[in-house]
Amino acid sequence: MKILVTGGAGFIGSNFIHWWLTRHPQDQIINFDKLTYAGNLENLKDIATSPNYIFVKGDITDGRKVKEAIDGIDVVVNFAAESHVDRSILDPAPFITTNVVGTQVLLDAALDAQVKRFHHISTDEVFGALTLESKEKFSEQTPYRPNSPYAASKAASDHLVRAYHKTYGLPITITNCSNNFGPYQYPEKLISLTITNLLEGKKVPVYGDGLYVRDWLYVEDHCAAIDLVLQKGQVGETYCIGIDSDIENIEVIKKILKILNKPESMIEYVKDRPGHDRRYAIDSTKIKKELGWKPQYSFDEALVATVDWYRGHRSWWQKLKKGDFEKYYQEQYKKR
Ligand code: NAD
Ligand code: DAU
Repeated sequence: MKILVTGGAGFIGSNFIHWWLTRHPQDQIINFDKLTYAGNLENLKDIATSPNYIFVKGDITDGRKVKEAIDGIDVVVNFAAESHVDRSILDPAPFITTNVVGTQVLLDAALDAQVKRFHHISTDEVFGALTLESKEKFSEQTPYRPNSPYAASKAASDHLVRAYHKTYGLPITITNCSNNFGPYQYPEKLISLTITNLLEGKKVPVYGDGLYVRDWLYVEDHCAAIDLVLQKGQVGETYCIGIDSDIENIEVIKKILKILNKPESMIEYVKDRPGHDRRYAIDSTKIKKELGWKPQYSFDEALVATVDWYRGHRSWWQKLKKGDFEKYYQEQYKKR
């Protein structure tokens, strides 16, 4: 099988390529990535010369380049996106261009190429926010109510994917998953930023009261879920993925402080994120019952493994936190 992975040089995409080639060595992967600030070929340097892996530098909004890359492809897995909520608040435009227009360009090319499956990676953020008081969870039936420019752009892309199935019969599947963490995560997201800041002796910025809740999914469990959906998922269906490990941000940070043996004085409360979603929680019953998925890692054990990974890969993340990242950090965390 020939798989076109878009955004394969990013965090989840590169973990997925490793996952897939280890378990399906007979398959061929073409990694199509623009290499934005979040794309990093170092994530894949161990397989760069493998006969069943090819890298193509390209933008998913570039119809001609996409058409060339998709020729002869059986399956598309679309990870390519602008993925950071805070950056979407600073500047929404690239989110609309890549996440919405880029997805539409890919869908057109996938139709023309008659691919057997177009799998779209989406997020629980499209469902909006839950309150702290309720016990409600997001499921495949939850209406879309996105709150950030990032979430709105992902919601639009999901709608397009669904529409290409209903209107043109494109064989699609969609997964909406919770917050991922693990190796190769760009150090701008809560867990990767917290670990790397602490390893650098810097304080950890906590938005607002720190009582926002997320359901953290280890990236390897996410890759396993995508694998199952590609093999056994029903065309036209959506699957929600999460692990029921809903936890407050401040608790996540305290766990990391404990693992690294750092004091709580390293916590710094900063201005809140505008439109900040209070709580996400996922009901994964469908993927568990229909496809037999279940997470292999508890949050605590995966967190220890993740901290170890960042401790052992300083040269990977230290250079990412220089140059443009410093400018972004100053803008994002400046005192207002
Ligand atoms: P990431 O930001 O680490 O990586 C995104 C990748 O896409 C990068 O390699 C980048 O170079 C590439 N890319 C960006 N614009 C492109 C374009 N126009 N053309 C081609 N490539 C382009 O993101 P991630 O965290 O790995 O997320 C991957 C996907 O999973 C995204 O679609 C995101 O919305 C979704 N998702 C992420 C999470 C999470 O917690 N990280 C959770 C749910 C869903
Ligand atoms: O839920 C899935 C989504 O998870 C994905 O679709 C997104 O691509 C991914 O970025 C992530 O979005 P979040 O906004 O939930 O993740 P982030 O790591 O940015 O923030 C997690 C929580 O931590 C959130 O409540 C904001 C808070 N936070 C984040 C940062 C970066 C802080 O308190 N301080 C920070 O410095």
